[in-house]
Amino acid sequence: MQIPTLKLSGSIKPILVVTRRFPVDVEYRIARDYLPRFNLNEEPFTQKELLAAAERADALFVSPEDRLDADFFTRLDTSVKVIATFSVGYDHIDLEAAAAKPVAIANTPGVLTEATADITLLLLLGASRRAYEGQQLVRSGRWNASRLNEILGWQLGGKVLGIFGMGRIGRAVAERARAFGMKIHYTNRKELPGDSAAGATYHVHAKTLLNVSQFLTLHVPFTPETRHFLNTQSIGYLPKGAIVVITARGGLVNDDDLIAALRSGQVAAAGLDVYEGVPDVNPRYLDLPNVFLLPHLGSATLETRSAMGMLALDNIDAILVGNPAPSLISGG
Ligand code: DGY
Repeated sequence: MQIPTLKLSGSIKPILVVTRRFPVDVEYRIARDYLPRFNLNEEPFTQKELLAAAERADALFVSPEDRLDADFFTRLDTSVKVIATFSVGYDHIDLEAAAAKPVAIANTPGVLTEATADITLLLLLGASRRAYEGQQLVRSGRWNASRLNEILGWQLGGKVLGIFGMGRIGRAVAERARAFGMKIHYTNRKELPGDSAAGATYHVHAKTLLNVSQFLTLHVPFTPETRHFLNTQSIGYLPKGAIVVITARGGLVNDDDLIAALRSGQVAAAGLDVYEGVPDVNPRYLDLPNVFLLPHLGSATLETRSAMGMLALDNIDAILVGNPAPSLISGG
């Protein structure tokens, strides 16, 4: 793979704060083109550590675990010209506060669409086919192959998949789910034009989408408006025994309400890749057999994590040399 080179007019390399470890090709490019300040701890930087590392730095390379709030931006050194997040989501960055500083903010859309859609299908299947219980049974040594009436799941084929948010990832999930014979219904800010809906049924209101969603997956950004979208009321609109999958952000779900629904059977099973208060997982999920849990693996393929790192660095390079950044969110 040809790794692009940062072309600066002067010979002094910019200082880049890097809050995570990245795939080797990304770290190679960082070491080659920057004076990096790596976070060598296993844990994310505290805000104090990140602000200290950012002193006299030119750029920050962060991830969703770094909370960049108003206080952070008030105290951030004005030397920092660009912050690139290793994520498509940017709910961890206070953009209003960032706007008060001469700093550009960029993210990594597009390159993680396929990997995230794949993991959504894994969760749909894992939850509906009771993969966690199956694993447990085999590993326990108690499996009796003659019993044909245990761990019976629910088939995807012929069922309605409700997609809440039909952006890039929602559409990639729809494409995959169609191959499993699912019928796609969705809500979106706007109805998809012409053929791009590929026959999916549009709902203006979330309630009517939920009413038909035997399976439900959420693909909207986490904002104050979408916080705890999945709660006792919205879960009550779902058909009894619905299956719910979350790969976007844990904060879209009220955990207490989902746990109650998983216990009562209103929700038959759930597949979760993200959690409110990440990396902490509500411990009551761990006691439920009908939840299939993953540790935020949505973008976790070698190809995708590498492409995300390269895009983040393309953004940083572009801002530092005064070119248009490929995926700028604000500033610049
Ligand atoms: C994103 O990019 O927002 C994904 O959740 C991975 O962090």
